[in-house]
Amino acid sequence: MPMGNIAFNAAATAGISIDRHNGRWVREPNIDSCMNGLDVDLFDEIERGRTWREDICEGAVVLRGHALAIETELLNAIEGVIAQAPLRHMTTPGGFRMSVAMTSCGRYGWVTDRSGYRYDTLDPDSGKPWPQMPGLLSSLAREAALAADFSGFAPNSCLINCYEPGARMSLHQDKDEQDFQQPIVSVSLGIPAVFQFGGDRREDKAARIPLQHGDVVVWGGVARLRYHGVLALKPATHPLLGARRINLTFRKAS
Ligand code: SIN
Ligand code: FE2
Repeated sequence: MPMGNIAFNAAATAGISIDRHNGRWVREPNIDSCMNGLDVDLFDEIERGRTWREDICEGAVVLRGHALAIETELLNAIEGVIAQAPLRHMTTPGGFRMSVAMTSCGRYGWVTDRSGYRYDTLDPDSGKPWPQMPGLLSSLAREAALAADFSGFAPNSCLINCYEPGARMSLHQDKDEQDFQQPIVSVSLGIPAVFQFGGDRREDKAARIPLQHGDVVVWGGVARLRYHGVLALKPATHPLLGARRINLTFRKAS
């Protein structure tokens, strides 16, 4: 089912001011110990920066707030892609309709249908090539990978996942790519989600990592094939995206 007119036109919402304190400062790490001995000016400075890095394990990090500074431009670029290649609920090889609506940009788009999971250079709905990956998206991905110590990332696929409350993604490995040397960069926008980051086996216990608007997760190297997923989203509303979460997943498909 196409998502229709997705209401996150950043230009139309430009008059909305986002209270980033409410939106962001839910998990300030070690806030009490940080406050000890910090003068107010320095604390303000840290708050304005709004970004920090949390290591999940070797090869996997969360870059908190990393995409916030370009949120409006990012949403405009995503909207441009969706206008050319609308979001759709694809079918798994087992015949289930995915609760997450998807589309892609870049040379390769990830698709699933009754015949399996794969990357394709053509959008199966239109028969046309996927929209180009906007430069802003590829530079964000490259630069986030670098911030996570992966240099030279050159994604040729960006999967756009759209979650509404109740939508989820079960534990899986990203293994449809040909080159596991390249990391994965995953950008979260909109309402919060809980990201599961597990081990190399499906049955390994998965950490639960709350992700907020603007957070970026990067994993690669020894963590490249870790199982991961997203718990069913709780009802919530975001000032720019409404009751939606958009996730961008950048990969080098081949
Ligand atoms: C994915 O693994 O493809 C998506 C992860 C997410 O939505 O955060
Ligand atoms: Fe994935």
